[in-house]
Amino acid sequence: MTGTDWAAWQRSWDRQQEWYMPDREERFRVMLDMVEALVGPKPRVLDLACGTGSITDRLLQRFPEATSTGVDLDPALLAIAEGYFAGDERVTFVTADLKDPAWARRLPHDTYDAVLTATALHWLHSEPLTVLYGQVAGLVRDGGVFMNADHMIDGATPRINAAERARRHARMDREKAAGVLDWADWWALAGEDPVLAEPTARRFEIYGEHADGDMPSPRWHADTLRAAGFGEARAVWASPSDTLLLAVK
Ligand SMILES: C[S@@+](CC[C@H](N)C(=O)[O-])C[C@H]1O[C@@H](n2cnc3c(N)ncnc32)[C@H](O)[C@@H]1O
Repeated sequence: MTGTDWAAWQRSWDRQQEWYMPDREERFRVMLDMVEALVGPKPRVLDLACGTGSITDRLLQRFPEATSTGVDLDPALLAIAEGYFAGDERVTFVTADLKDPAWARRLPHDTYDAVLTATALHWLHSEPLTVLYGQVAGLVRDGGVFMNADHMIDGATPRINAAERARRHARMDREKAAGVLDWADWWALAGEDPVLAEPTARRFEIYGEHADGDMPSPRWHADTLRAAGFGEARAVWASPSDTLLLAVK
């Protein structure tokens, strides 16, 4: 028993992520609307690159009969997830590198009704992401869904992209000046916590400071998912910078 307030860490992770994406909860809501619409209110879910398990948290609050497997590689975020969901038999966490060809073998199930992910797969370049989409297609049951909410850039609209980016960063700068914690500040706090310090040091050994991929367009994601074996794929929500892509097997 550590006495760590896991719910407080969970909330502070959410606040930090919301600095980048003020509409983060809205995308989670639409994601779960589409889960309900396509696979119903008792899904078996894979929360891919789950971090602290924010998607799993929203899923179980809304659909108490759902179950979730969270998979991630970050030992500090997984420590928060495991602390926060301790004792909840609906949830299992797995440590795996999504670039490891054998990662899916670590999962407790062969198939899922829904594979859900947010703000994570932009860490992978298109080539490993194409491989991952092929593996995900193998994990989603027929009639099941995959959803990815992430930063996706349409290279055909450079002026729109530059304008929205400038506006987004101006807002972030104002909020930062008012004291919001950014990614680096948040990790500095985790590194000072007696329980999180060790897994935080390990996560920096694994990832370094940053790991950005090439962030292809929504169309690329839809085409790649169809090529991987999904029958339909399109955006079901978008903000000026991000897209929620839904694919049905
Ligand atoms: C910005 S966080 C988002 C976490 C969570 N989905 C959320 O919305 O709060 C990105 C996550 O992707 C995970 N991730 C990135 N690359 C990964 C990889 N190769 N294998 C497993 N997880 C990975 C990171 O560890 C991190 O937890």
